[in-house]
Amino acid sequence: MTEKLDVLISAEKIQVRLQELAQQVREDYGDEPLLLVGILKGSYQLISDFSRYLGGEVKIDFAQISSYGEGTTSSGLVRFKKDLDLSLEGEHVLIVEDIVDTGLTLNHLLELFQTRRPASMRVLTLLSKPAARAYPARVDYLGFEIDDVFVVGYGLDYAERYRNLPYVGVVRSQP
Ligand code: IMP
Repeated sequence: MTEKLDVLISAEKIQVRLQELAQQVREDYGDEPLLLVGILKGSYQLISDFSRYLGGEVKIDFAQISSYGEGTTSSGLVRFKKDLDLSLEGEHVLIVEDIVDTGLTLNHLLELFQTRRPASMRVLTLLSKPAARAYPARVDYLGFEIDDVFVVGYGLDYAERYRNLPYVGVVRSQP
């Protein structure tokens, strides 16, 4: 089976939107230092580009979440493949997500990270699929709202492929 890709959001559109979001974030936070928390692997391109547009005092850390089974961690919320290295306590935290689909990942992450007593916590996501939402998930800064279709590129994968594309595309399976 081969796949064909249709461009959904071009590389240029993504970069323009990220510059707008960076400006909006800086207007909201002023000169406050920010801690960007990227959720791996999907956010690797986003956090790299966005952080360069953001400027000011910025720390960066990453977490990676395992897919959910029935079992959970002792916290009862999230199972980490990789937890953060930095403490969130007293920090203005901006979670940087590739996509919010059902909202489950974000919902659990927010609950867990809130227990670490950040000064504030907001969420930036490149993409959101509102039609797929099954859990309440807070999004403060949104790149693009998309339909409930499977997308790849700009960090997002299909079986680990396509993450390196500079644009967001839709996979069309071909017989
Ligand atoms: P949620 O917990 O259902 O909101 O799912 C979020 C995660 O599912 C994202 O961080 C992605 O890793 C993955 N995901 C959801 N939709 C897509 C998609 O269209 N393409 C690639 N990955 C996706």
